[in-house]
Amino acid sequence: MSKQFDVIVIGGGPGGYIAAIRAAQLGFNVACVDEWKNAKGGPALGGTCTNVGCIPSKALLQSSEHYEHAGKHFADHGINVKGLELDLGKMLARKDQVVKQNNDGITYLFKKNKITSFHGRASFVKAADGGYEIKVTGAAEESIVGKHIVVATGSNARALPGTPFDEENILSNDGALRVGDVPKKLALIGSGVIGLEMGSVWRRLGAEVTVLEGLPTFLGAVDEQIAKEAKKAFDKQGLKIELGVKVGEIKSDKKGVKVAYTNAKGEAVSLDVDKLIVSIGRVPNTIGLNAEAVGLALDERGAINVDDECKTNLPNVWAIGDVVRGPMLAHKAEEEGVAVAERIAGQHGHVNFNTIPWVIYTSPEIAWVGQTEQQLKASGRAYKAGTFPFLANGRARALGDTTGMVKFLADATTDEILGVHMVGPQVSELISEAVVAMEFKASAEDIARICHAHPSLSEATKEAALAVDKRTLNF
Ligand code: FAD
Ligand code: NAI
Repeated sequence: MSKQFDVIVIGGGPGGYIAAIRAAQLGFNVACVDEWKNAKGGPALGGTCTNVGCIPSKALLQSSEHYEHAGKHFADHGINVKGLELDLGKMLARKDQVVKQNNDGITYLFKKNKITSFHGRASFVKAADGGYEIKVTGAAEESIVGKHIVVATGSNARALPGTPFDEENILSNDGALRVGDVPKKLALIGSGVIGLEMGSVWRRLGAEVTVLEGLPTFLGAVDEQIAKEAKKAFDKQGLKIELGVKVGEIKSDKKGVKVAYTNAKGEAVSLDVDKLIVSIGRVPNTIGLNAEAVGLALDERGAINVDDECKTNLPNVWAIGDVVRGPMLAHKAEEEGVAVAERIAGQHGHVNFNTIPWVIYTSPEIAWVGQTEQQLKASGRAYKAGTFPFLANGRARALGDTTGMVKFLADATTDEILGVHMVGPQVSELISEAVVAMEFKASAEDIARICHAHPSLSEATKEAALAVDKRTLNF
């Protein structure tokens, strides 16, 4: 007799593990099946985010930023560092330790919430009495039945056609996080989020980095003014970003990688590098799920087809996170996980897609929520804009980091905040205030009238809100 569960979650990434915890909190008998293996072949809960995504990339961004500060910026503070040395092995080991702490944290949370954890690949077998039969293929094979199934199988890196990842020379996000020696020359294809974050890590550690982007515009989804400011900063740092390129043949051998491309002027270029990171987006992961066995419908991109509530075409089968439409972000996956668990319990789970923040953890950081100025123009909405530069912020001067600005966009008549865009120090944290404000449908005036601590970077947020009404106090 197969073990029976109220809810079986397939995938233990941020979407899946959070869905499992919320369902358990709501009193359901929950199982979570995840196939990720750590270096020893054991379970490693947390999915892409914890193992080869958000967490290890932020660990390396932090370490590499410390290294750059020690080498280039401490002297401005009167701290002279002699004999600065990079111990890349230790830096990578620290990153692995941070990953493990997060893996272990989720294992603990599963125990605390009495979630049954299976290590192996889950695949649909058939609709069964009282739900769906799922086969778990791990060290052993097991069959379990769930009344509700939540598919949270995530995504995988997209490879260039004809150029598979070997994780030696041609790297996905996985290989990009564990290069054993700093490459002398590194190329990245795609100047999106991974291109900029991983390009920054390896540039700070000493690589000569070239980022090749197919589109003629830099960070097209970001507010233009913010993207321009960020590009200026990256150019100054020596991160070479070439826009409007057409990548041609890629040859890899023991000596390295040869990337042929046509630049924006139409000239043929051949670039020799030690390593190539391909960061051209990700594809939803339904490999091995055996979706056909139960007739689970996919869309034309291979993502699981869901409605606004994450319902699939099958009764009691839900899908969340990177494997469905919408931004591929850990916090979006988590919100969907919570909402689905609550819907299973007959509650009104809710995700507001208009207030999902984005953060790019480069230096300067880039963060935004809501609509960009170009989107507002295109939709014909009348708006007012206000900006405030970190150059005029006392805390930023004290930090020694005055790059960037905060920008508010508000409705021309009602003053409702429509978008907030930031580039500068620690804006990954500052953006939360804007998210809260937009959730509560605040006006720019509301933020302008709230007391912000002095001296703090958050005063730039208040001042940008004041700027909407052309009454900044410190600029
Ligand atoms: P995943 O995290 O991909 O988890 C899916 C899990 O399901 C995996 O463990 C997988 O092994 C398992 N699985 C798949 N199929 C099966 C099966 N059939 N049976 C059993 N298990 C299965 N997002 C942010 O918000 N902030 C960031 O800073 C950020 N940084 C990133 C950096 C990098 C380098 C990358 C690659 C991504 C980053 N992301 C970031 C995106 C984020 O990682 C994803 O949006 C997030 O992990 C999606 O969560 P998920 O639960 O949908 O899927
Ligand atoms: P991306 O979608 O952010 O960027 C891909 C870039 O590659 C785009 O600019 C695109 O125009 C370009 N491109 C596509 N095909 C190309 C080609 N053939 N030649 C040249 N350029 C090409 O994808 P990326 O960086 O791979 O990241 C995947 C996803 O992971 C992100 O979209 C994001 O959802 C998530 N992520 C989030 C992070 C965060 O929140 N800080 C960090 C890293 C990843």
